[in-house]
Amino acid sequence: MATERTLSIIKPDATRRNITGKIIDKLESAGLRVIAQKRQHWSRDQAEAFYAVHKERPFYNDLVAFMTSGPVVVQVLEGDGAVAKNREVMGATNPADADAGTIRAEFAENIEANSVHGSDSAENAAIEIGMCFSENEIVG
Ligand code: CMP
Repeated sequence: MATERTLSIIKPDATRRNITGKIIDKLESAGLRVIAQKRQHWSRDQAEAFYAVHKERPFYNDLVAFMTSGPVVVQVLEGDGAVAKNREVMGATNPADADAGTIRAEFAENIEANSVHGSDSAENAAIEIGMCFSENEIVG
């Protein structure tokens, strides 16, 4: 399978509970490499821009409020089939539907405070990585 890059975000519910290391361990144990990482506190503008694709969804305003409620850790992950692999390790969006052993099954609080975000396609990964990192911050 081809080497890919994907964007990962460890969300405010996870930074609040000080479990970023446990989440990174799951990612690395699945064979993903963290090739860029920074901790940020997003402004409303940043969160709105990142989730603009969900603008018309009923959960959009609450999602923006949640994503600005505390620090996030944004990451670029690299590995064979990284987009799909990361989504497998994260588990379903709703932790109630997530397979045992996945990040969301183990750590997510609910469908909104679901601990992690991962790009849903290679195309969106490139867009999302470009929104969060400059080239010189990514060290493969
Ligand atoms: P994420 O993978 O970051 O993509 C959109 C986010 O919106 C999702 O994870 C959740 O944090 C949040 N969200 C809240 N409610 C819903 C919902 N009903 N369906 C999908 N995503 C939701």
